[in-house]
Amino acid sequence: MKLLLIFFGTLAMSVVEGYVSICDEKSDDNSDFTVLFEDTFDGEQLSEDWVITEGNELGQLRDTWGQKENINVEGGRLVITTKREQSNGYNFTSGALTTKGKQFFKPPFKACVVAQLPGSGIDGEMDGIWPAHWMMPQNSSCWPDDGEIDIMEQVDGLNTIYSTFHWNPNKDEKNPAPCDNGHDHAGVNVEVATSLTDFHEYAVFANDSGELVYYVDGEEIGRINEESKGEMEGTTPQKDPNMAFYLILNTAISTGGVWPKAVTDKTVFPIYHYVEDAKILGKAP
Ligand SMILES: *[C@@H]1O[C@H](CO)[C@@H](O)[C@H](O)[C@H]1NC(C)=O
Ligand SMILES: *[C@@H]1O[C@H](CO)[C@@H](O)[C@H](O)[C@H]1NC(C)=O
Ligand SMILES: *[C@@H]1O[C@H](CO)[C@@H](O)[C@H](O)[C@H]1NC(C)=O
Repeated sequence: MKLLLIFFGTLAMSVVEGYVSICDEKSDDNSDFTVLFEDTFDGEQLSEDWVITEGNELGQLRDTWGQKENINVEGGRLVITTKREQSNGYNFTSGALTTKGKQFFKPPFKACVVAQLPGSGIDGEMDGIWPAHWMMPQNSSCWPDDGEIDIMEQVDGLNTIYSTFHWNPNKDEKNPAPCDNGHDHAGVNVEVATSLTDFHEYAVFANDSGELVYYVDGEEIGRINEESKGEMEGTTPQKDPNMAFYLILNTAISTGGVWPKAVTDKTVFPIYHYVEDAKILGKAP
C-alpha cells in the first residue's frame, strides 16, 4: 500500500533527555484535550482495546504472516517479534496490532508512541525490516481516499525515521471516490541517532483544519499542510468531521518490490520492536 516515497525535508535530531511529551495532558498546550486512549503495557497481557491481526489483512505486514504468538507484553513493554519461519505459505512471521473497531479518534488529536526500533544501524545488515506506527481511517472503502497518517516508519534497520501522509488528491464532492483514482503523499524524515538502542517518542498532532505536525521527543520535525502539499488539488481527508482513525503498531518484512530493500540471508532474526507507551489525546466525545 505504501509506495516509494520522495521526501522534501531532511533534518538531524540529537538525543533529548527528559523531553516534554506532546501528549502530556497536564501541559497548558493541552488544556482543551483529554486522554482518549493509553496503554503503557504494564499488565500481563494486551488490553481489550487491541485487535491482533491474524494473517495479513490489507497487506499490513507485507511478506509475513501475522500471528498472536509474535505479540507479547512483558517487562512493561509490548514486544513485537519477527521471525524467519514458515507459516501459511509465508517465510516469515510477525505481528500487528490495531485498535480497529475498538478505539478510533477524530481530529483534532495528538498520538504518541514511545518505542525502541529494531536494526543494526549498518547499511546492508538488516535489509527488509519495516517497523511502523500508523493510523488508518476507521470507515474507508478505497485507499488512500480518506487518508493514511504514518507517524513513524523505518526501513532496513537504519536510524532514519519517516513521517508521511497519504491522500487522494482527486477526491472531492463532485468525484465521490471511484477507487484507484489517485494517490499522493508528503512527508518528512529525520535521523534519530539512538533509535535502535533507546526509547523515543514518535508523535503527530492532527489538526481539524487539515494540518499534521510531526514530532520526535517533543521536538517538531516538520508539518504537512496545504502549502507542503504543493500544487495538488483536492480535499484534505482529515478535515472530514466524520472521519476517525485507528492506530496500528507492527513490523513488516519486505522480500522486494516495495520501499524497503529485499530481506537477505544476512538479515538477523528474531527481530524485536519494543513499545513502552501508546497514548492519544483528543476532544472528549
Ligand atoms: C519462500 O521461500 C521459498 C524458497 O526460497 C520461495 O520459493 C517462496 O516463493 C517463498 N514464499 C514467499 C511467500 O515469499
Ligand atoms: C490548527 O487549526 C487552527 C484553527 O484552524 C489554526 O489556527 C492552527 O494554526 C492550526 N495548526 C496548529 C498546529 O495548531
Ligand atoms: C463507521 O461506520 C459504522 C456503520 O457503518 C458506524 O456505526 C460508525 O459510527 C462509523 N464510525 C466512524 C468512526 O465514523
